[in-house]
Amino acid sequence: MKKKIKALILAGGKGTRLKPLTTTIPKQLLPVANKPILSYVLDQVVDAGITDVGMIIAPETGHLIKEFAGDGSKWGARITYIMQDEPRGLAHAVSTAGDYLGQSSFLMFLGDNLIHGGVKKFVEQFSNDNCDSLILLKSVRDPTLFGVAEVNKDGSLLHLVEKPKKPKSDLAIVGVYLFNKHVHAAIKNIKPSWRGELEITDAIQNMIDNHRKVGSYILTGWWLDTGKKDDMLEANRVVLDDLLKREVHGKVDAESNIAGRVEIRRGAEVINSKIRGPVSIAEGCCIQNSFVGPFTSIGEGTVIEDSAIEHSVILGGCHIKNVDRLTDSIIGRGCKVVNVAGNFRHKKLFLGDDAVVEL
Ligand code: G1P
Repeated sequence: MKKKIKALILAGGKGTRLKPLTTTIPKQLLPVANKPILSYVLDQVVDAGITDVGMIIAPETGHLIKEFAGDGSKWGARITYIMQDEPRGLAHAVSTAGDYLGQSSFLMFLGDNLIHGGVKKFVEQFSNDNCDSLILLKSVRDPTLFGVAEVNKDGSLLHLVEKPKKPKSDLAIVGVYLFNKHVHAAIKNIKPSWRGELEITDAIQNMIDNHRKVGSYILTGWWLDTGKKDDMLEANRVVLDDLLKREVHGKVDAESNIAGRVEIRRGAEVINSKIRGPVSIAEGCCIQNSFVGPFTSIGEGTVIEDSAIEHSVILGGCHIKNVDRLTDSIIGRGCKVVNVAGNFRHKKLFLGDDAVVEL
């Protein structure tokens, strides 16, 4: 019988690249298509047959992660929380989880990463190939933002560099990794990088240098790293486009027109409005005399009146009134965006929680 593998989900860090949203919401709980990213991650981990989950949390936001994920039973998982006192790198997170991981092999999943089609086949490949590590790679436009890999023709890994200024390939390291116990010795061999972090990239390089078997898999489907504003809009667009089904549970009056794949959750109301999918409207929203265009997600309890919105993510509890037209925007919880002068066109917003904008 194959040994059970564990999962290590990283849900710590400060989320600096997504401030001000991450001032009050950990980045792993930001919604994509009206569902927190961490929820997709847990779904994908459990779908790969892994139920024993270690969750790395930070002192600042750990309580919010715990409140959301609880004991994991909602996903059919069993979660053990592990506090990482300071964000000192991904390899540091692994060593912090040393007692929890023991001698087990594990899937490490960065809690702000999402990949198309889940991780089941990678977990299977790792177990079948008997490698010491399997890493996922994806061809990207700007590799300087990521760890970058050079790969031999046979797919074995040659060399890895974290955020190189002059990348030798366009293959970025995706935030989903598989390791066996040998990673722990590799982590003991590395030193903090120029950014003061113990990099998992350096630990993998150390495994390669010590002739460990490190395999790679090049992803062809989408990979979303939701660390920055435009990534979040992109994630919302891709997930709405790919995964959303038409499901209308809320109330829609006879004057409204719902076109395409639109999700309207229970308790939401659409009055005299046009909704053109893909769009997700969460519980308790009210959309009145408005147009909601493609690739928009509207969070729980938000009210939209006499406005036009598209390609945007509006979190819960917002009030948007007389705004024509809001595009490419992310709006945090409890914001009020009201056009008082009646002369609002194509403004782009990136606002934190509880902001009030009067235009
Ligand atoms: C981390 C890793 C990097 C990887 C990226 C994927 O970067 O260090 O190698 O490509 O995650 O999301 P960070 O988010 O810490 O900058």
